[in-house]
Amino acid sequence: MPDRRITGMTRIYGLMGDPVEHSVSPAMQNAAFEARGLDAVYLPFKVKSQELQPAIQGIRALNIQGLNVTIPHKVAVIPFLDELDPLAENIGAVNTIVNEEDSLKGFNTDASGFLKALLSEGIQPERKNVVILGAGGAARAIAFILADRGANLIILNRHIEAAQDLADRIVNLFRREVQALEMKPGNLQTALKSGDIIVNTTSVGMSPGLSETPVPPSLIQRGQVVFDIIYNPVRTRLMDESKKRGAKVIGGVEMLVQQGAAAYEHWTGQEAPIEVMRQAALKALEEPDKRSNPD
Ligand code: ATR
Repeated sequence: MPDRRITGMTRIYGLMGDPVEHSVSPAMQNAAFEARGLDAVYLPFKVKSQELQPAIQGIRALNIQGLNVTIPHKVAVIPFLDELDPLAENIGAVNTIVNEEDSLKGFNTDASGFLKALLSEGIQPERKNVVILGAGGAARAIAFILADRGANLIILNRHIEAAQDLADRIVNLFRREVQALEMKPGNLQTALKSGDIIVNTTSVGMSPGLSETPVPPSLIQRGQVVFDIIYNPVRTRLMDESKKRGAKVIGGVEMLVQQGAAAYEHWTGQEAPIEVMRQAALKALEEPDKRSNPD
């Protein structure tokens, strides 16, 4: 815990989700407040799905200044907000709420966090063939921002229906072709052959399933970019094996840090102390009881 006093003026921020116990966000955000000398604190709020609406009302009632939203509430929270940022509206998911004088505005910083992490490695998505593995909440934000930046998408998912739904959504928004395939060996082989960038948004390989990988590493080719958004472990089997095969690999920690930094900036209007947040996240992830949690 940061060594800092709570005062009568302390501003309250937090994370709403279930589970929240293993989240890295409290460590990251509290380190940021401390580094900037802000009288603010970030707390975990474990909220069950059936309690979501009263919990949102509680933001106003208790004058909480801002929240992150995580599994399972990123989509369900939308009807309870007063305003949506256009990006969050298009993605259909919110991971950050700002309380502006009792008006709650929803943002999505997962998408911008992913894009920043990609760009910071010098990778431009324009006209690239991107293979997205998975079609859950994170895939939604990533597919949207990549389509917006002019990438060609192939989406593979264990359950084809979710891949098809996401592809249809992108087609409707951007009027461009998106392929949806079931995640099975033949389809993986075909898709990966033409992929410039492969993004794993599934939970396969996440701690404690360290020996698992969403694609057979033999399908990864030299020169491809492999972005695994899992951040626990910091290096997944997919990342290790892809690197051995000559791919450029990007892990999930940078996306985690960037989405947190963007949330911090929405709340405070100040530039986030990104290196402080990165170090706090890495330190929290080193702790033995940290299991995976989306934020
Ligand atoms: P997130 O918000 O992190 O994206 P999510 O919405 O629960 O989490 O999505 C999890 C993704 O991981 C889904 O695409 C899921 O596939 P299904 O839609 O078929 O369930 C994928 N996933 C989880 N476990 C998987 C496994 N063992 N094999 C393949 N895909 C898996």
